[in-house]
Amino acid sequence: MWAERTSQISLSGIREIFTLTRPDAINLGLGQPDFDTPVHIKEAAKKALDAGYTSYTPNLGFPELIDAIAHYYEQYGVHAGQEQIICTSGGSEALHLAFEALVNPGDEVILPDPGFVAYSPLTRVAGGVPVSARVKAEDGFKLQPNTVAECITEKTKVLIVNSPANPTGAVQRYDEIKGFVELAEDHDFYIVSDEVYDKLLYEGEHVSPASFDSERVIVVNSVSKTYAMTGWRLGYAIAPAALVEEMLKVHQYIQACAPSISQKAAYAALIGPQDSVRSMVKEFKTRRSVVMEHLNEIAECVTPEGAFYVFPRFATSDTSLDLTKKLAQGGVIVVPGSAFGRFGEGHVRISFAASRQDIDRAFLTIKEEVSAR
Ligand SMILES: Cc1ncc(COP(=O)(O)O)c(C=O)c1O
Repeated sequence: MWAERTSQISLSGIREIFTLTRPDAINLGLGQPDFDTPVHIKEAAKKALDAGYTSYTPNLGFPELIDAIAHYYEQYGVHAGQEQIICTSGGSEALHLAFEALVNPGDEVILPDPGFVAYSPLTRVAGGVPVSARVKAEDGFKLQPNTVAECITEKTKVLIVNSPANPTGAVQRYDEIKGFVELAEDHDFYIVSDEVYDKLLYEGEHVSPASFDSERVIVVNSVSKTYAMTGWRLGYAIAPAALVEEMLKVHQYIQACAPSISQKAAYAALIGPQDSVRSMVKEFKTRRSVVMEHLNEIAECVTPEGAFYVFPRFATSDTSLDLTKKLAQGGVIVVPGSAFGRFGEGHVRISFAASRQDIDRAFLTIKEEVSAR
């Protein structure tokens, strides 16, 4: 009865677990910072409201915000003109626009597996075919150029790169990113680089594929994670100008523009003081140590270098979904690795976007559950 486009995809496995949960459960399943939006950003939004910024904005976004985004990306050696940037309703919409403007029916999209839950459904909605490129624990979950090379066919249209990565916290190295860009140039496909965790980095440096001056790279980012602004729904894409034109056509008809007040708030976030980001990252880094200390007692686990997730494998015969359900019944929410692709099976995603106290309490339950088998 419904269109194939939607009937062939399902709701995210993450939500499924949340519905099973006791009200007093400790939530280590969150995909957003457990911090409030910094005060100066909220103030800018209030000011914008009072000044009457309550109507549609230019379709691409306020020019001052576009300039601020271009300036922000200069730090990564990316020199984008105004005509190369489109503001969207979160990074999610930017991903959707990129797929809609790039993927024809039957085109293949290579995606990291395990990887962010939206990549495969968005590929399918655009009529494309998802192709899993396995990321392995022995490589620190970093996607390898030779794994990507093995996935390339005549139909390859897009490669998704996500660094720092959800759900593994892996951070790609310079040489790997360079390798992806070379493959894209040699085999005529595009890289959609999801950089929403660019600032949540504990090791190494953020390398954007767009810094290699290629016409084949689309950057997706947002203020959601860096500035604890997930509910504001403000993201953007940086792409070759001709592709921005194509993305704009879809954006104009489904969204018109990104939310006006959120654009004003995002502008304040990008150009204002960055100490809230630094203190949030410092806190996440401490929690990462706390989580790793607990995990080292009970599991094999790669130390995440970015984002706020760890992706351990426990020695158990349970599927990751069954283990997650048992933990949920015991009062701890984590996300089954299988929600992130078939190669995520056997793992769970634990988010450290929770207080240290909650993390310590949750691990009492996790240790009990895991050592009981
Ligand atoms: C890897 C990744 N990309 C994109 C998003 C979408 O974020 P937003 O739409 O809030 O910018 C998320 C959110 O969890 C994510 O983890």
